[in-house]
Amino acid sequence: MLNPTEEIKQRLDLAELIGEYVRLRQVGTNFKACCPFHNEKTPSFVVSPDKGIWHCFGCGKGGDHFSFIQNIEGVEFPEALRILAGRAGVKLEYHNPEQHNQKTRLLDLNKAVMEHWHQLLLTDQAAAGVREYLSKRQLKPEIIEQFGLGYAADSWDEAIRYLQSKGFTLKEMDSAGVTVAGERGKPYDRFRHRLMFPIRDVHGSVVGFTARKLREEDHGGKYVNSPGTDIYNKSQILYNLDLAKLEIKRLDYAILVEGNMDAIACYQTGTKNTVAISGTALTEEQIKLLKRYTNNIMIAFDADPAGTQANLKGIDLAWRNGLNVKVISITSGKDPDDLIKEDPAKWRQAIKEAYNFMDYAFKAILAGLDLSRVDHKKTAAKKVLPLIKNLGDEVEKSHYLRKLSEILGVDEGALSKSLAGIKTVPGPKDKPLDAFQQAAIDQNRLVAEHLLSLLIKFPEQLDQVTHHLEPEMIHYGPAQKLYTELIIYYNKSHHSGEPDLLKNLEPSNRDYFNQLTLLIGEEFNNPTPASINREILQTVGRLTENHWRKKTQDLNRLLVLAQKSGNTVEMDVLSQQLNEVLKKLR
Ligand code: UTP
Ligand code: MN
Repeated sequence: MLNPTEEIKQRLDLAELIGEYVRLRQVGTNFKACCPFHNEKTPSFVVSPDKGIWHCFGCGKGGDHFSFIQNIEGVEFPEALRILAGRAGVKLEYHNPEQHNQKTRLLDLNKAVMEHWHQLLLTDQAAAGVREYLSKRQLKPEIIEQFGLGYAADSWDEAIRYLQSKGFTLKEMDSAGVTVAGERGKPYDRFRHRLMFPIRDVHGSVVGFTARKLREEDHGGKYVNSPGTDIYNKSQILYNLDLAKLEIKRLDYAILVEGNMDAIACYQTGTKNTVAISGTALTEEQIKLLKRYTNNIMIAFDADPAGTQANLKGIDLAWRNGLNVKVISITSGKDPDDLIKEDPAKWRQAIKEAYNFMDYAFKAILAGLDLSRVDHKKTAAKKVLPLIKNLGDEVEKSHYLRKLSEILGVDEGALSKSLAGIKTVPGPKDKPLDAFQQAAIDQNRLVAEHLLSLLIKFPEQLDQVTHHLEPEMIHYGPAQKLYTELIIYYNKSHHSGEPDLLKNLEPSNRDYFNQLTLLIGEEFNNPTPASINREILQTVGRLTENHWRKKTQDLNRLLVLAQKSGNTVEMDVLSQQLNEVLKKLR
């Protein structure tokens, strides 16, 4: 028995499905079109009905039936599954109406209790102190309303009784996490005598709550949170994203804060592109969510040691996922909320002066160290060097290496040597680059992918290619990785066909391999050995030229820097290297 997703894929012809949204043109066994997901004039969107995959070589999007529907309809996987199951006439047993209803019920329940708590906050006698608390924290009535803040009564069953009167069962309350199962199975209200913050998902539905104690001396932790439920997964939620997302898109950056209160204060003061991680470590899922709206984030975590650690971790994670990261330094108070309360202008200034992440890392790492001590110097180098190693840009690398050498009073050559010994962690997918560098890399990538697709089809050509082309001459990471693996594979076994090769590839390379097989269109269906050979050599020629050109540019830029700092020795070395490269280029 096939599982439903496999069955759907088998029943629905991918070209037919995509053809309903996009005008497809047949090319051999594949289909081509202008990509529906980015603007382009020449088609680089390819569909292979046989393989059941689609891929755009322009914007990099691709996948199967489900991801296509997700992307084109802007829905999540379950919705795409539902749409396609309907079309294919496949029954989704585990997605029965009851379970669907169950989720809707939980959302309804949350909405009901949120409105109830909100009413209590606005009108209840017992909430007078809470209203005062909020006004002390300078929250305006319209903001309290917009964020649906509420008050959970000082009682073990006030919410239970209210929800029962609205027809919700104890089981549903338990599933939504608004109650806790008591000792003898008698449930009680989870949130008691607290200020309630509803947590909304990206569509604005209330999926959970976080609840703040009202006075320091009150019982329990400062915040109590909903547990994970069928509709609430903490690591996949960014607080306030539903209200912030349009502004994030418009300004093309998001501000990331720790606390819910910070997000609200930011929103109230007009910095509406702010979301909160709600006190957990930033997750990869949250970053993916943000990447739908922007590639740029500014982190404004708390100004304490834990906040600094969180900053550094967040930077690393965001950066490795291809986001540009800056850090907003909290110049006064503990967090953005404090700073705004003190003076909104100071907050806006802090945003303007956000640190480039390397400068922030220097500041943060060096802060606790006494650089007159050798062991502290070592620690500093140990922490900063890996960050430098990870920089994509040679000029930046050299800039920060010099900065480190100056700060530590350690010879740059020595640092450079340690740098060489450091292993790189997986780099970002899109490093911050200027337009020219980006264009050169795109060019290199296009050519490399053309070459790889040829090599997949004509593996016997690999031998001679390896004599001319070093892996590092391919600048696009995945292509370089696949090329390296092809070399290793062919050195081990001998030239066999595509299916065999695919089986032996490292799993992480397989998708990419599949995409590349789409690239070979009709033009090489009846090749002569001479024409293939010519094509391959030309392609290799373009790659090597592209590589040496880039080297030239890098060296030139370093030379300019060396000139500026009057370092004649370095200038000599660089000129010599440059001459070598220019010779190769000729
Ligand atoms: P903070 O302790 O920084 O609180 O926690 P805050 O946002 O500044 O709150 P105020 O200004 O004192 O009212 C940041 C976030 O971490 C989560 C909450 O989501 C909070 O907003 N948190 C904090 C918890 O989940 N549990 C806790 O016990 C503390
Ligand atoms: Mn705070």
